[in-house]
Amino acid sequence: MKLPYWTTTLAICLLAGTAGAQSWAWDDGTTPFVVTPPEVVDRMLRLAEPKAGETLVDLGSGDGRIVIEAARRFGTRGLGVEIDPSLVTRARENARRAGVEALARFEVQDLFETDLRGVSVVTLYLLPEVNRKVMPRLLQDLKPGARVVSHDYDMGEWRPDETIELPIAEKLIGPLGRSTVYLWLVPANARGTWKGLLQGHGGEWEFRVRQRFQMLEIEARAQGRELAVRGSRLRGEELKLVVTGNIDGRARNHLFRGTLKGERIEGEVLISDGEESTTRPWTAIRQP
Ligand SMILES: C[S@@+](CC[C@H](N)C(=O)[O-])C[C@H]1O[C@@H](n2cnc3c(N)ncnc32)[C@H](O)[C@@H]1O
Repeated sequence: MKLPYWTTTLAICLLAGTAGAQSWAWDDGTTPFVVTPPEVVDRMLRLAEPKAGETLVDLGSGDGRIVIEAARRFGTRGLGVEIDPSLVTRARENARRAGVEALARFEVQDLFETDLRGVSVVTLYLLPEVNRKVMPRLLQDLKPGARVVSHDYDMGEWRPDETIELPIAEKLIGPLGRSTVYLWLVPANARGTWKGLLQGHGGEWEFRVRQRFQMLEIEARAQGRELAVRGSRLRGEELKLVVTGNIDGRARNHLFRGTLKGERIEGEVLISDGEESTTRPWTAIRQP
């Protein structure tokens, strides 16, 4: 039987003052109800940039504030899933008062059983060990480019794409006096060997890509030579890399930018030799 909110908050505060972040779990390891302060909700939503026409899911939605704020400010359709039925009742009432009950839905549901396919934004304020359990589902079910935003806790080996710290003087849970907001973009699958012609500039280019989350290791080859690759980056479906090397006997920098859709990359390459630069279209196809 769970305690009323004020008792919970008090117990959690006392624990958080003396021990690490994990001490605010219930005895069974589940995450208690603690609210995200309004200024942190604001920062989470500004990082995730939910849009009208997109769907947002808050895993463990508490009083509904994140889903309600996304609906109110951005017109985003949202679902809050919450294990505690009294909080679902409260969230529905809050949505009605905010006039967004048509957009903001709340269900009593275990977050581990929530269908995330087709969802554009997932928000979390859960304990670190819960985040790590959810992480494989996020990577498997969300489409490339979907955004995941977490208050205070990261995802272990899946490094965030952006991290922001905010001073929150009154905060007594977890990291005291401050909040951290993390953003991840679900990476597209870029693994494999890609080939594409750059007409009039080296002929066929080959890229061999190894991938761990959004981190890429790329080897590039053109005109029978290995070329130096640096600055490779994958943000969702957006790929960038810089290749330096001799093409037709002249040293040049090549900034490749492309969007990865399934087995194709479509984009452009900016070629410069320090004095002149040109831009050409770039297409690469993943080799079977
Ligand atoms: C720290 S609160 C965050 C509330 C809200 N998302 C916010 O940021 O203000 C975590 C919430 O997750 C809920 N929760 C814990 N385990 C859950 C589970 N397995 N499925 C759904 N909700 C859960 C808790 O009841 C609690 O309301």
